[in-house]
Amino acid sequence: MNAAIDKILSELEELKCKSAKEVEEARIRFLGKKGSVTALFEEFKSFDKERKKEFGARINALKNAAVAKIEQLKAGAAESDVQDASGADLTMPGDGFALGSRHPVSIVRQQIVDIFRKFGYSVAEGPEIEDDYHVFEALNFPPNHPAREMQDTFFVSNGHLNPLLLRTHTSSVQVRTMETQPLPIRVVCPGRVFRNEAISARAHCIFHQVEGLYIDKGVTFADLKQAILLFAREMFGPETEIRMRPSYFPFTEPSAEVDVSCNICKGKGCNICKGTGWLEIMGCGMVDPNVLRASGIDPDVYSGFAFGMGVERIAMLKWQVNDLRHYFENDLRFLREFQTAVEV
Ligand code: PHE
Repeated sequence: MNAAIDKILSELEELKCKSAKEVEEARIRFLGKKGSVTALFEEFKSFDKERKKEFGARINALKNAAVAKIEQLKAGAAESDVQDASGADLTMPGDGFALGSRHPVSIVRQQIVDIFRKFGYSVAEGPEIEDDYHVFEALNFPPNHPAREMQDTFFVSNGHLNPLLLRTHTSSVQVRTMETQPLPIRVVCPGRVFRNEAISARAHCIFHQVEGLYIDKGVTFADLKQAILLFAREMFGPETEIRMRPSYFPFTEPSAEVDVSCNICKGKGCNICKGTGWLEIMGCGMVDPNVLRASGIDPDVYSGFAFGMGVERIAMLKWQVNDLRHYFENDLRFLREFQTAVEV
């Protein structure tokens, strides 16, 4: 009996299984109805009292050892079953998949464009490297006109008649639209613009604009006011009021700056609106007849309005981010704050 028990113990010790199937086969071999451990138990039953006493503890220990070994092998096999042929563990968690989010400037640009789309505007885009004609001349900036200094320019080439430059506003896209599209025209022009400015919390040499242009027969200043009011209420909430202050742009006459009522203090005066209750959001005006004429449109038949706003400026007002540089530094801590600002 002792020899039989020792034999089975050493078999158990050396037992190795690669799969759950092999473990089951081993279980049958040792603990099944005709298994070797079971057979010893059968033999044990026929022993007299003395011998039962002698072998009882050993044979029970053998059974426990066999059960424990089979359990241990089962657990090991379950693990190896999830490995593929290369031994890789298929249950390991995958590498993290970082989900990006849209940049606040993109979110606001899209919101502005979507609002004007609802009003029936289409989107026009144009080159960032432009010529003097489309950025200035066709927009009624005569050569050496001091208004050119309003928009300090980065020049790309020194061509004396029509130098290449980085566009200072997307009004250049409006010129290209007037040159090529049939009337009536109703477009918004989103895009990146460049001005030679020292970088600070309030100014940057790169920023984004959405400009708009509407040209048809009989377009009036009242239409402009209504379009801007509807836009402001869609963007900043239904209670929003607007006011217009006379201004000057070479390409519009009359021209105005538009303020919206401060959506933070509801017009009472706070530090965002500097106590005035108003926030400046854009420039606008009726397209100057010279501009229409330069693009081959008869100002005696057609009239139109134009407007232009800075996307970062609108984003600043919406989210009270008071340093423009945040928009360009790509600090993830800043960008992640906008992860839930819009469904992607
Ligand atoms: N182009 C102007 C700017 O960049 C904005 C503007 C557009 C003003 C259209 C009036 C009409 O500042």
